[in-house]
Order: sequence, then C-alpha cells, then structure tokens
Amino acid sequence: MKAVTLDRYGQDLDALVWREVPNPQPGPFDVLIDVHAAGYNPFDAKLRKGYLKHFYPFTFPHVLGNDFAGVVVAKGPAVWGLEVGDRVYGMQQAMRWGSYAEQIAVDAANVRRMPSNLSFEAAASLPMVYETAWVGIVDLALIHPGELILVHAGAGGVGSATLQLARALGAHVAATCSTDAVDFVRELGASIVIDYKAKDFTRVLSNVDLVFDCVGGQTNLDSYKVIRKGGRMVVVLREDKLELEHTARLCAEHAVTRHEVAFDQRGDVLDHIRPMFEQNRLRPVVTKVLALKDAREAHRASDAGGARGKIVLKVR
Ligand SMILES: NC(=O)c1ccc[n+]([C@@H]2O[C@H](COP(=O)([O-])OP(=O)(O)OC[C@H]3O[C@@H](n4cnc5c(N)ncnc54)[C@H](OP(=O)(O)O)[C@@H]3O)[C@@H](O)[C@H]2O)c1
Repeated sequence: MKAVTLDRYGQDLDALVWREVPNPQPGPFDVLIDVHAAGYNPFDAKLRKGYLKHFYPFTFPHVLGNDFAGVVVAKGPAVWGLEVGDRVYGMQQAMRWGSYAEQIAVDAANVRRMPSNLSFEAAASLPMVYETAWVGIVDLALIHPGELILVHAGAGGVGSATLQLARALGAHVAATCSTDAVDFVRELGASIVIDYKAKDFTRVLSNVDLVFDCVGGQTNLDSYKVIRKGGRMVVVLREDKLELEHTARLCAEHAVTRHEVAFDQRGDVLDHIRPMFEQNRLRPVVTKVLALKDAREAHRASDAGGARGKIVLKVR
C-alpha cells in the first residue's frame, strides 16, 4: 500500500517520505480499515521531531497518524460489534502504524461507527480533539450547565472542539484567539471572544468557573487571576517550567483544582459525540484538506502556527 512514513526523527520535513510499504496484518482484537481520511494533529509533529521519543521510541520506518475515518474491510476473530463494510472513525495508539496510509489495523476497542451525516474528512478531524475536550471538561472538571468556561486558543483544533462541546452542554463560553480569528471563534459559539493580541484577558474576565488551557506558560499562570475561588483549571500541556514553579502556590492561594489531560484512546467518547453531530449540536471544523502524499505540507502549516480548526489528509 501507499503510505507516508517517518524515516527518522527530524525538525526538517524530509523525514516524511511518500512510498510503498507492506499492508498491516490485523491481530485477533483488530479491525483492518481502508483509510479514507487521516486527521492531522500537532502531536504528529512532536513525534516527527523526536520530542516524545522517550515515551514513543519508534523503529523506522514508522507510519504516523492517530486520527482516521474509513471502512472496515476485515476483522479479527475476537472482534464483535463491528462488521465489514461499517463506516468508522477512531484513534490509533501512537506506537502502532498509523493513518498516513491506505490501510490501518486498529484495536477494535478504539474504533466506532462514525456520525451518519459526516464525510470521512469531517469524521477524521474529530477523535483526538474531542477525546481531549471530553476528558478535560466532562470527566475531570465535571462541567455544569450555566457555568462560565474560558477556553484559551479557541481557534485551534482542541480549543474549537472544547468550546463547542462546552456550549452544547449548556455552559457560557469565553475564548481567547488572535485578531483574525475573532469572527471564526464567535461563530463556533463563544459569547465572549478576547483577541489576546489586543487585550489582556485578565482585565475583561472574572469569576470564571473553569479554565481550559491549550496555551500554557504565562497565559496559564495569569488565568488564576480570573478563576473564582473553588474553580477548576484543565491543562493539556505539561512540564512547562514556569508552571511547575508556581502552580502549587497558585492553586492553594486561589483554592483551584488543577487537572491534566493525558493522551489516551477513549472510544467511548466517540459514542457520546456521535449523536451530538447527528443532531447538529456540534459541527466539524475542517479548514484544510490535503492529499495524503502532501502530508509534509500539513506539518509545515502547523509548524508555522496560526491554526484555525483542523487539517485533514484525504487518502482515497
Ligand atoms: N494532553 C493531551 O492529551 C493533548 C491532546 C491534544 C493536544 N494536545 C496539545 O495541545 C496543544 C494544542 O493543540 P491543538 O490541536 O489545539 O493545536 P493547534 O490546532 O495547532 O492550535 C493552536 C492554537 O493556539 C493559538 N494560540 C497560540 N498562542 C496563543 C495564545 N497566547 N492565546 C490564545 N491562542 C493562542 C493558535 O493561533 P494563533 O497563533 O493565531 O494565536 C492556534 O489557533 C498542542 O501542543 C497539542 O500537542 C495535548
């Protein structure tokens, strides 16, 4: 099959190579899927650059890509609940060969039927960002209707999913983004949009119940000024030196509970969001579709910053 492989860790894009590789062989608990679309995530670039090589030590060549949507073409003997021909979406484990390829073999526990009203490109844009959003605001922070949530980086992949999910669950949403993304973020459902390049969010907001932070660093530390006593902080980026130094003190001073979202596969979340898409309570935000062979361009665009929604690679 055709795939884009990672041939070594590299800051440069030449580490990604479009080539022929052997088809994956499904194990007893796997489904084999014809991939129609692969969702790009900044996680892919961190893997490419070797930033996470102690957690994910690859043997090269490796196929990147966690998010996928496609059609089941075979299944292992221990798989139930999924059938050949099903249109599915899900998230691959990072150590296994991923979705930058014409086929993928995935543990069926991480695969679900996709929302019936979505294209493969739209479905492939959802798993990682919605699993992150759900774990953060539902499982960890126990968001309630009527609460005020501040989402930092509302225009990015995780932020655009989180603010929509929070809104759909009955919360009031404030979000930060840069100047040209203000209308985009408002249309996604944020009632307060703060252009962080022009305004200091700590002068605009107070009494926030929950902060969902996709930025980190000084933005994270400043956020404690706007959270109400007893509020919650959810972070998706860890090991920031500045935060490590000040977080314990700030949480104690402001009586804030801090949660970290860890990278994980959560097929059950895909079951929760399917009807929300089918009822148009959530909508996919794919802003760029590229051919799989142009995966380097997805990495280049993401490395350049300024993401608006999601990039997807069209495989067939
Ligand atoms: N822990 C986990 O399980 C987990 C899961 C998923 C993602 N992540 C991580 O979370 C981060 C965000 O992921 P993503 O997919 O949302 O990335 P993304 O799609 O690239 O979006 C990043 C966004 O941040 C905005 N931004 C940058 N600086 C900002 C600031 N100071 N204030 C407000 N917005 C700012 C960017 O736009 P501008 O540059 O125009 O401002 C862009 O829209 C990545 O590092 C990713 O690896 C962690």
